[in-house]
Amino acid sequence: MCGIVGYIGKRQVLPILIKGLKRLEYRGYDSAGVAFFHQEEIKLQKSVGRIQELEKKLDYSLSSHIGIGHTRWATHGKVTIMNSHPHQIGKITIVHNGIIENYLTLKKELESKGYLFQTETDTEVACALIDWIKKNNSSLKMVDVLNEAMKKLKGSYAIVVMVQDEQDKLYVMKKESPLVIGIGKEEYFVASDFSAYLDDTKDYIILEDNEIGVTSMDNVSIYQNGILKDYVVKTLNEEVEIATKGEQEHYMMKEIKEQSQLIQKWNTLYFDQKEKLPDITSYQRIHIVACGTAYHAGLIGKYLLEKNTDFEVNVYVASEYRYQKNFLDKNTLVIAISQSGETADTLACVKMAKEKGATTLGIINVYNSSIARVVDFVIYTHAGCEVAVASTKAYTSQVYVLGLLALEYQSKKEKKNTYQELPVKINKLMEYDYSTIVKHLYQKKDIFYLGRNIDYVSMLEGSLKLKEITYIHSESFPAGELKHGPISLIEEDTPVIALITHEETAAKTISNIKEVKARGAYVVLIIEDGIVDSIDKNCYDEVIYLPKTDEYTCPILSIIPLQLIAYYTAKKKNLDIDKPRNLAKSVTVE
Ligand code: F6R
Repeated sequence: MCGIVGYIGKRQVLPILIKGLKRLEYRGYDSAGVAFFHQEEIKLQKSVGRIQELEKKLDYSLSSHIGIGHTRWATHGKVTIMNSHPHQIGKITIVHNGIIENYLTLKKELESKGYLFQTETDTEVACALIDWIKKNNSSLKMVDVLNEAMKKLKGSYAIVVMVQDEQDKLYVMKKESPLVIGIGKEEYFVASDFSAYLDDTKDYIILEDNEIGVTSMDNVSIYQNGILKDYVVKTLNEEVEIATKGEQEHYMMKEIKEQSQLIQKWNTLYFDQKEKLPDITSYQRIHIVACGTAYHAGLIGKYLLEKNTDFEVNVYVASEYRYQKNFLDKNTLVIAISQSGETADTLACVKMAKEKGATTLGIINVYNSSIARVVDFVIYTHAGCEVAVASTKAYTSQVYVLGLLALEYQSKKEKKNTYQELPVKINKLMEYDYSTIVKHLYQKKDIFYLGRNIDYVSMLEGSLKLKEITYIHSESFPAGELKHGPISLIEEDTPVIALITHEETAAKTISNIKEVKARGAYVVLIIEDGIVDSIDKNCYDEVIYLPKTDEYTCPILSIIPLQLIAYYTAKKKNLDIDKPRNLAKSVTVE
C-alpha cells in the first residue's frame, strides 16, 4: 500500500528509483511517479497504471543524482495523474504514505491563506502546510520547519521531502508508517521497506515515530523534537531475501509450492526461538488480533490451543478490537499475527495492549517490521518473502507456529505430530488435476464454501483466496447454518465446496451436502481419506481426498486444494493473479 523510494548519491537517480519502485510493487498501487533534480530544477513525471507506463515517459538521458519516487494506492481521490505523487507546492515536493486525518481542517486553513488545491489528496495539503511554514518562518532551518509541520499533522505518514533551495538534501519524516534509510558508500537510499534496495546495501536506519532524517551525499542525521539524536545502524543478514519467480509463471504458484519445502525449516527455526518466549501459562487471558488471512490463522490457533490445552483463547479482527471493551490488563497475553508486520490496525492494537499493561507476542513474517519491533516477544514465521498479494505460505507458517504452541502446552502429553510427513502429502495435493472443477467455477458469479468447526475456518480462508484473485463472489458458511438462511441462495448449478476432515462432524456435514445437492448445487467435496466408511456418490460431483492426517497438520493440508482451486480459476480467467485489483500487500492505513 503506497511505496516510497528516494536516492541521493553519485549514481544516476532514475534507474535506481525505478528499480526500487518495482521491488515495492507487491505492496499494491494504481499509479506511480518520480521527482528529481535536473540542472537545479525539480522535474516531475507521473502516470497511472503500472510502473512500465511511467518508464515510457521518462527521459533517462536527464542527469540527476537526487530524487524521490512513489507508487500510490488511492485513498483520497480517484486514480488520476493529478492525484498521483509526488506533489509539489511552492518550493516543496513530497511523496507520502499514510493518511493525514485532519487534512480537511488544514485545507480550510491553508485555503484562507491563499493556497489553491488542484487535487483531492491529503498529501497536497501536507505539502502546502510545509511550504507555508517555510515561507512564513524564513529563519527556521528545514528540520525545524518539518518539526513544526509534524505538530500540526494528525494521522499516519512517511514523507520524503525535496526542497528547491536545498539541492543536496533529502528530508524524511515518519509517524506510524514505515520508512527506512539505507546507507551505501557515499550514497543513501530511502524506502518503505528493505526489499527496495537490498542488493545495494544491507545497512539501514529504521526511522521511529516522530523522527526526522536529513540525508546529504555524505551524511545522515536524525532528529526528534528538533533535537539531533544518535541512531543505530542495523545490518541485515540472511533473514531478508530478494524474491524471484523462479520457473513459475506467478509468485503465487511459487509460494504455494514452497509450502512443502518450508516445513522442515520451520521446525528447526521455531525451536530455536522457543527459549525466548513468555511463559504462556502465567496469563489469564489470551487474545489473538489480526486481519484477513492472518485472522483466519488466528481462528485455527484458537481451535488448536483450546482443544489441546487449558487456555481460553479469543480471536479478534484488529480493526474492531480497538473499539470494543477488551478487558486488557497485565494478566492478558495479546498475540498479534501479521505477515508484513506493518498492518496499521494490528499495530495499533499492539500499542493499545501495551499501554494497558498486557504482554504482547508477535507471530510475524517480515524481520524487523514495525510490529516485530513493538511487541514484547516475537516469533518469526520464516516463510520467506511473500510477493503475491494473496497470502499462502505465510498463512500456513502462521498455522504451523500456532500448532507448535498448542503442542508445547498440550494438557495430555502425548506425542501426536505428523509434521514430518506433511511435505509428501502436500505434494500429492499439488498433483491433483483441478481442471474439471475449474471449468465449472470460472464463469460463476457466486461460490459457497461449507465446513464445520475447524473446517469452517479453513473454508473462510479458502473463500477469501478465491474472491481475492478471481473476483467471484464467495462466502463460507458453517454447514449447520445453511438451513437458517443461506440455503435460499442455492439454485441449479450453484457451486458449493465442502470440507470434511473430522469424524465427529462428518455425518452431519454430509447431510448438509445432500441438502444442497438436492437443490441442484454442483458439489466439490474435499474429504480426508478413510474418515467415513463409504460416501454416497450421488452427494457430490467431484471429490478430492486429503491424505490422512492429524488435527495439527490437517488445517495446513486442507488449505492446499483451496489455494490451488483459487489459483487455477484465476488463471483460467486470465487475471493478474499476483496483483489483484484494489488490493495491497501491506495495509499500512487503518
Ligand atoms: C489475504 C491477505 C490479507 C492479509 C491481511 C493482513 O490473502 O493477504 O487478508 O492477510 O491484510 O496482513 P498481514 O498479515 O500483513 O498483517
